[in-house]
Amino acid sequence: MSTPTRSGLFLTFEGPEGSGKSTQIRRLAEHLTAAGQTVLLTREPGGTPFGDKIRHLLLDPGGGRLQPETEAFLMLAQRTEHLRQVIRPAQAAGTHVLCDRYVDSSLAYQGYGRGLGVELVRQLHAMTLGEFLPDLTVLFDLDPRLGLERARHGGKKSFDRMESEAVAFHDKVRHGYLELARREASRFLVIDAAAPEERVFALLLQGLQERVPVLFEGVARR
Ligand code: TYD
Repeated sequence: MSTPTRSGLFLTFEGPEGSGKSTQIRRLAEHLTAAGQTVLLTREPGGTPFGDKIRHLLLDPGGGRLQPETEAFLMLAQRTEHLRQVIRPAQAAGTHVLCDRYVDSSLAYQGYGRGLGVELVRQLHAMTLGEFLPDLTVLFDLDPRLGLERARHGGKKSFDRMESEAVAFHDKVRHGYLELARREASRFLVIDAAAPEERVFALLLQGLQERVPVLFEGVARR
């Protein structure tokens, strides 16, 4: 008789531009894979072929100003495909899903940044996606000035539609993230992303070992 597969965890990673989030997730995925875990690294907007098309529409710097609702609906549309077609099936097969940005990006960017209000964005998700919250959300917190500066120094030549927004917009996004983390402390792990990369990675592993030990079951500590 085969043993039933245990459902994988759904972990999401959030933060402002230039927080080093994507590098940290890649390192985490490598760390877990090397230790024998099955993980899926995915991202939003995107994660499905249709979602990637929506991503292109949303981030195209030539896309101009969109109504905040349009932005929120497109984010929700790509998320519906992603959650139902990729994330939930992977979890059901016992794979841990590491997702670079998810619903908290909509709450922070569209809810706070664009001023739609966090409750409206949350309601849209609850109405259409039912159980949509991740098991744990890591917030890489950083002053957006530092993040945008890092992105520039990292050799980035052109900014996408969101990155091109004024610093005041990114300040609202950061404030939104911190407010979300404060309100839902049991779902969030907040990490100071201003620290050097090695230190941030050590804090990430330590935090995850404390908060979701099941992720490390059978994994040797380094
Ligand atoms: P991306 O290049 O993936 O940014 P990063 O490398 O910083 O993660 O671009 C995604 C952009 O889309 C980013 O500016 C945040 C924004 N976004 C939203 O505004 N709402 C959302 O729901 C999501 C998923 C992303």
